[in-house]
Amino acid sequence: MRVARDIAALEAALAPWRAAGDCIVLVPTMGNLHEGHLSLVDRARGLGDRVVVTLFVNPMQFGPGEDFERYPRTFEEDRRLLEARGADLLFAPETAELYPRGHGRTTAVEVPELSSILCGAFRPGHFRGVATVVAKLYNLVRPQVAVFGEKDYQQLVILRRMTEDLNFPVEVVGAPTVREPDGLAMSSRNRYLTAEERARAPLLYRTLRQVVERVREGARDLAAVEAEAMAALAAAGFRPEYVSVRRADDLAPPAPGDRSLVALAAAHLGAARLIDNIPFERAPARA
Ligand code: PAF
Repeated sequence: MRVARDIAALEAALAPWRAAGDCIVLVPTMGNLHEGHLSLVDRARGLGDRVVVTLFVNPMQFGPGEDFERYPRTFEEDRRLLEARGADLLFAPETAELYPRGHGRTTAVEVPELSSILCGAFRPGHFRGVATVVAKLYNLVRPQVAVFGEKDYQQLVILRRMTEDLNFPVEVVGAPTVREPDGLAMSSRNRYLTAEERARAPLLYRTLRQVVERVREGARDLAAVEAEAMAALAAAGFRPEYVSVRRADDLAPPAPGDRSLVALAAAHLGAARLIDNIPFERAPARA
């Protein structure tokens, strides 16, 4: 596996592959890789000829007081894991390489509406940072395909919209969430949990499963189902931000006839902010 630490080295590594007409698949990450990320690499390998993984802790998507400084940085271990998993190229630039004028002064990509709901309501500017860095990575790598995890469901919807709106010739592929045996979605931020919080953390997924079950059983008052789920999380010591059932493709509040839905939640537990979601289908409404 090649490693490029700057744009010139990235260009040099990509040039022969582009010349050969290889299909390049991009897997953007912020590093501290776990099985969830590595499953994206596995998926990517089956989608093209060359897998390019990027590792960049993007300051633009962290708000003031968030965990940018303490976000785990484990470059050597990440490099080893990617090599073993068969990635072809790792692009891991310094911040100044991607934001030479500083990330606060860069031209930015704004995906309206979708970026200010759910997580966006609690993390203003977060999705602007995500959309901007992914647009830059598209321009630098020029992939035919990009793979993102469904764990960050809202991010995936936003990046699909951004790719379409800006006419990037990139096919966006979503890959399923990878879970620990007790159901907790894998996340780099799980390491912020104490042992006791870690034991409680799977309740987020269990609560979402109950929400899905209720909606599948025919519950129509989604606000009541969501409020109950929030109360259950709060009673267990979580600080929930939202539990919400939305339309799967555009995250709009579902109309009675909508069948492809997603239940999403975000909650703080100790020092960790956890997010999770379950996409699901509900039966057609009876007349
Ligand atoms: O999902 C992530 O790790 C990040 O938001 C991404 C897509 C790599 C952009 O920094």
